[in-house]
Amino acid sequence: MMAKGELLAVLLMVLAMLASSGIALRKDELGEAADRIAQLPGQPRVSFQQFSGYVTVDDVAGRALFYWLTEAVHDPISKPLVVWLNGGPGCSSVAYGASEEIGPFRINKTGSSLYLNRFSWNAAANLLFLETPAGVGFSYTNRSSDLFDTGDRRTASDSLEFLVRWMDRFPRYKHRELYLTGESYAGHYVPQLAGEIIKSNAKSRRPLNLKGIMVGNAVTDNYYDSLGTVTYWWSHAMISDKTFHQLVNTCDFHRQKNSEDCESLYSYAMDQEFGNIDQYNIYAPPCNNSVGSITRRIMQLPHRTQKIYRRLSGYDPCTERHAEIYYNRADVQKALHANTTKIPYKWTACSEVLNRNWNDSDVSILPIYRHLITAGLRIWVFSGDVDSVVPVTATRYSLAQLKLRTKIPWYPWYVKNQVGGWTEVYEGLTFATVRGAGHEVPLFKPRAALQLFKSFLRGTPLPKS
Ligand SMILES: *[C@@H]1O[C@H](CO)[C@@H](O)[C@H](O)[C@H]1NC(C)=O
Ligand SMILES: *[C@@H]1O[C@H](CO)[C@@H](O)[C@H](O)[C@H]1NC(C)=O
Ligand SMILES: *[C@@H]1O[C@H](CO)[C@@H](O)[C@H](O)[C@H]1NC(C)=O
Ligand SMILES: *[C@@H]1O[C@H](CO)[C@@H](O)[C@H](O)[C@H]1NC(C)=O
Ligand SMILES: *[C@@H]1O[C@H](CO)[C@@H](O)[C@H](O)[C@H]1NC(C)=O
Repeated sequence: MMAKGELLAVLLMVLAMLASSGIALRKDELGEAADRIAQLPGQPRVSFQQFSGYVTVDDVAGRALFYWLTEAVHDPISKPLVVWLNGGPGCSSVAYGASEEIGPFRINKTGSSLYLNRFSWNAAANLLFLETPAGVGFSYTNRSSDLFDTGDRRTASDSLEFLVRWMDRFPRYKHRELYLTGESYAGHYVPQLAGEIIKSNAKSRRPLNLKGIMVGNAVTDNYYDSLGTVTYWWSHAMISDKTFHQLVNTCDFHRQKNSEDCESLYSYAMDQEFGNIDQYNIYAPPCNNSVGSITRRIMQLPHRTQKIYRRLSGYDPCTERHAEIYYNRADVQKALHANTTKIPYKWTACSEVLNRNWNDSDVSILPIYRHLITAGLRIWVFSGDVDSVVPVTATRYSLAQLKLRTKIPWYPWYVKNQVGGWTEVYEGLTFATVRGAGHEVPLFKPRAALQLFKSFLRGTPLPKS
């Protein structure tokens, strides 16, 4: 028999051991466990895990970015981590990427339930949707002036800070292959963030394992994008010969702000010549005003003039509406661990405040491409070829400036025995079009987009048959 004192000592030791192991276990799992999504309202049963919540990126200002991770359906541990960003600037990747494009769920018309996307990219990867910068969607800042001076720089540095701190919460992703993807104005965010990661990796003991980037209908170079856009309008018979020539002769596409004469030509083209089309998919039926009027928001690309604000529409064709119903529900926010600080405004698909007050915007992303190519990243650029907002001609004029050597000449690629689009493989970069797809490629051509994504992840050229 043990003496009372000995018994107590042993008991205390056992307790201490239990406690310490308990704490050790918790430390690993606490952050991640708190972010685990049990079930979203109206969600069908799924086998993969989901997490969402906030990561603080600036302790002084009180900026926190919101993320939603939907893990791969099969064997997530062996699959890469893929970040998806939407553009705007000011638009949410929860609204677009997750809910209309590549995510596992779509929202039904009444905002009452979710249904499965058959072509979700989480068939091939773990998907991390990030609402960036602060002010987009559920991402917030406690320093309200931040909403008026955010631009490309802060978006890149906050997004980097997010990734570094997020990895601490999800240690199992720390050494995982990482890819950055996105569309539209994320044509700025994605290469800029990749550049920041490479810079920070050089001085970090825990580098992020960044392997590549892929962007679609990506804003790339102000001059060549603008020239390519009016060229697209003309070559797709959206504007007259006269207007085209006047635009080319009057507008100085090198300038950030354009002359009155140039602006009025843009207005003339859009108001008198375009007609009521969906500029994001010129052959699709446009959004019916009387149905979709709740959230017709006017958004603008920073390098286009004030007067040519554009309506951001997705497809359905008035889709953001469903997302705005669903993500403003209190039960949905609770399930997502979102809006925990009672943000003083509603969740919206895009923030007009951020968009209108965008502080800084790189004139051209091409120098960053050169840097990323040198660094050996896998780089894919794709383009839905019926988008007139960031059209395929804009992307081709821009990429041509890189003067890359052709590795595999232009050829049609196939998906289910149909031409999915065309592609050319260059030294350091793969370019691919998606035939018949609008601005949001995975929304309009989901099967082709998934094929593209799988080829990108494998690092193999798109199928020739
Ligand atoms: C923002 O302020 C709220 C209320 O004071 C606080 O609970 C929250 O932690 C702050 N957020 C950040 C990221 O500091
Ligand atoms: C949306 O989901 C609700 C609940 O599951 C269902 O009653 C309704 O019919 C669905 N609406 C559409 C348009 O699918
Ligand atoms: C637009 O929606 C209204 C109301 O639902 C409907 O009456 C009208 O026929 C629709 N118009 C078109 C062109 O689809
Ligand atoms: C956050 O929640 C408050 C209510 O607590 C609500 O009024 C507000 O619209 C919500 N904001 C966002 C961005 O979800
Ligand atoms: C705003 O943009 C200018 C350059 O255009 C830059 O120097 C400044 O740092 C930016 N402000 C913020 C808060 O990023």
